[in-house]
Amino acid sequence: MFLAANQIPDMINMAGGLPESSIYPQSELADLAKQAITKYPGDSLDYGPIEGLTALRELIALRFSSENLPLNKDNVLITTGGMQGLDLVGKALLDEDDIVACQSPAYLGALDAWRPRQPIYRPFFPEEPGFNPTEALTGAKFAYTVPNFSNPSGKLIDSKTRRSLVAAAKEIGTWLIEDDPYGTLYYDHPPLERMISLSGSAEENNYSGPIIYLGTLSKELAPGFRVGWAIADKKMIASLTVTKQGSDMCSSGLTQRIAYDALTNELDRQTLPKILDIYRGRRDQLCKAMEDHLSDWFHWEVPVGGMFVWAVAKKPNFNTDQLLKYAMQEKVCVTPSSVFDPEGNNARAIRINFTRNPEEKLIEGVRRIALACRAMTKETI
Ligand SMILES: Cc1ncc(COP(=O)(O)O)c(C=O)c1O
Repeated sequence: MFLAANQIPDMINMAGGLPESSIYPQSELADLAKQAITKYPGDSLDYGPIEGLTALRELIALRFSSENLPLNKDNVLITTGGMQGLDLVGKALLDEDDIVACQSPAYLGALDAWRPRQPIYRPFFPEEPGFNPTEALTGAKFAYTVPNFSNPSGKLIDSKTRRSLVAAAKEIGTWLIEDDPYGTLYYDHPPLERMISLSGSAEENNYSGPIIYLGTLSKELAPGFRVGWAIADKKMIASLTVTKQGSDMCSSGLTQRIAYDALTNELDRQTLPKILDIYRGRRDQLCKAMEDHLSDWFHWEVPVGGMFVWAVAKKPNFNTDQLLKYAMQEKVCVTPSSVFDPEGNNARAIRINFTRNPEEKLIEGVRRIALACRAMTKETI
């Protein structure tokens, strides 16, 4: 439905999670693509190693290493986007009726990736006062979190909670997935330390903690690359690698080679300040327009990073599945909260993306959402 919405003329689609496409460094990437094929045909055109190009694995290991986190290429598996990391984790770890403890509301793609294994999803709410990580993680095969600006809620898990989740995972002996596509998109303050880094130790010479970290180039460079990575204990990486073999044999050598050259030239780091400026401006405009038009119906927190505002209806019986129907008539599309609830029950919130559309479209989109709210509440009274 959301993809089809793009085909409708004059539709303002704020439902997806897409980057602003004009910031993809097109001409630099075109040069690197040509170079990848002409200079490195072996890397880019042959079948490659299942684990990914060695040079790229080494580079990712180096970028994520710190004093407390000694990594080498054996801790890294290149995946076909972060999405494949999620899929492989499910295939490697889950059996029917296993419990997956999920930060709630949860990323739809992860829920869908694991559903064929028929797990039981058990939600937890790390931002709530009194959150008890030991209780949340006990009995789970693994726990799933997006600590940086969760999709859909846009929320940041604070440092204290990160530490307590890591401590609980160690104590209980369960895996903790740190899914981190939005980790560089901090608009208001420097990034918090990652859980994988909090879980390592300077005494080790190779990481052996409970975190399976999933990264991606999708939000930093371009999602079309489909280049992501898993970082974990090397035995876990070996097991994810065997799983990947039966899945796609290897990720595209061409995009891995381009990614390697792009990262070596720091293309991502050069592009980042521009991305942050654009997205910060769009977030501010969106939230101002929401203040002007939507505050009768919703409350929300201004996210300090990421791509989404999560707006929760003030009235508990306000149904956002219904609202979407009215919104589509007004030619605006947002994502209703029911899709982020494993039981499909939460129909009280909407997720609004602010990265894909220019400011004037965001403002007009919010005006249309307000029209939809008005039309729906008038009809249901
Ligand atoms: C939380 C989360 N995890 C993983 C992904 C997958 O990203 P990709 O496969 O493009 O790397 C997304 C995409 O939007 C996401 O929001």
